[in-house]
Amino acid sequence: MTDKPLSFDSLQELLAGFGQQHVLHHWHALSQSQQTILAAQVRELDLPELASLVRGEYGSTDFMALAARAESPPAVRADGSGADWSQAQAKLRGEEALRNGQVAAVIVAGGQGTRLGFDQPKGMFPIGPVSKRTLFQFFADRLLAVNEIYGCRIPLYIMTSEATDQQTVDYFAENDYLGLPFEDVKIFKQGTMPAVDSSTGKLLMQNPGSLALSPDGHGGTVAALDRSGCLADAAKRGVIHLAYIQVDNPLANLCDPALIGHHLMAESEMTTQVVRKRYPMEKVGNVVLVEGQVQIIEYSDLPAEAAEATNADGSLKLWAGNIGVHLFNVNFLRRIGSLATSLPFHRAAKKVPHIDEQGRAVAPDQPNATKFERFIFDLLPLANNAFVVESLPCEAFAPVKNGDGSVTDTPSMARKAISDLHQGWLEQAGAWVDQGVQVEINPRLALTAEVLREKIPANLRIDADRYFDIRLES
Ligand code: UTP
Repeated sequence: MTDKPLSFDSLQELLAGFGQQHVLHHWHALSQSQQTILAAQVRELDLPELASLVRGEYGSTDFMALAARAESPPAVRADGSGADWSQAQAKLRGEEALRNGQVAAVIVAGGQGTRLGFDQPKGMFPIGPVSKRTLFQFFADRLLAVNEIYGCRIPLYIMTSEATDQQTVDYFAENDYLGLPFEDVKIFKQGTMPAVDSSTGKLLMQNPGSLALSPDGHGGTVAALDRSGCLADAAKRGVIHLAYIQVDNPLANLCDPALIGHHLMAESEMTTQVVRKRYPMEKVGNVVLVEGQVQIIEYSDLPAEAAEATNADGSLKLWAGNIGVHLFNVNFLRRIGSLATSLPFHRAAKKVPHIDEQGRAVAPDQPNATKFERFIFDLLPLANNAFVVESLPCEAFAPVKNGDGSVTDTPSMARKAISDLHQGWLEQAGAWVDQGVQVEINPRLALTAEVLREKIPANLRIDADRYFDIRLES
């Protein structure tokens, strides 16, 4: 779409062909530079694609039939069953890959975080139950710990969006890259998609000189990694595997050697970490196998009958819940590069502030718009030997989605999950933690209970909230 002309008349003709000429309603009141920006936005639009998305011609799946054919995916379960190798073998293999500098980290942090209601990028949310460390700092500390243990330098690729980029870039610069070598941190922006009015399909305007644009979903990661040069950078550094997490899960075990090892032992091009669903209609994507392909059926698409189906022992047939933690082979991403831009778009009903034709601001209190997003997990069916690794929710999943006061996935719940996990480690290491006390351990002090045992005094009693930082104060 790069050769479209920029004059008012030709833009008008182009847009009118798709009933979207209202976009230019305020054109003559715009300055020249504003006109240039708006014209560039229009030129970037794929209007025929947008029209077919609005009409719902993006392929309708018969989820009833799909779910009826869905089976449990190839997986290693949390107790180690399901694989021909042991957890210990997997860990050793992953440690070797880390030591050899074959792993890079990807954190996606481009989401607008509308449900959380925090006015900065989610990665800057203070999540540490005692330390108040931000989500970004959590993961930086984790990477520093892994670098130290395995003598490696894991490159960190952080995906942002228009909504989060500048603040994220400033935050890292102002905070000395959170202790990471700055040349190992690359912050890159994902693409955008326009939002449309859900009843008319008309493009929404954020202001007279701009469309209402939103990030194109975490499925935009592959194209953005490629466009930004991160994939080439990874290949140049000898990186073979990308460890991908989403910024809003502080328990995500970024660059966990066992997970990397399972991925390698399974010779998988894309491995996904899951948790066992607690109940049939739990609001997580269902990782399933359909005719030899691993894929995800979203909870909203899963018919109750399939969700409730059980095995002879009463366990759920479709048990694997997606937590958005994946491993990718760099070669796989390079191979499917162009296909990634043809991943399907998913529709989401959202509240999108905009202006009306008179230029008055509209702040909806109900979803008024349709946004179109690509999802990273749609890469699963394209991967050879896609594999699933089960983890325990208490060790791997504490999503921060909604503001405090909501019933699920709040910051308070995530803080409690972190404190509970670390309390468990302290107790295994021989300490006593009083009831109601919150604890938090920096991964640079210890990543496991076994290591912690060597770091804390015997018979330690913790009777007030306590943060165990890099070094232990006496
Ligand atoms: P969510 O889909 O939960 O969305 O993102 P969100 O943007 O954080 O929050 P809401 O829906 O507006 O309340 C899951 C993860 O994927 C990232 C987010 O930053 C988060 O880490 N993400 C999501 C992107 O990086 N880009 C996107 O376009 C969407």
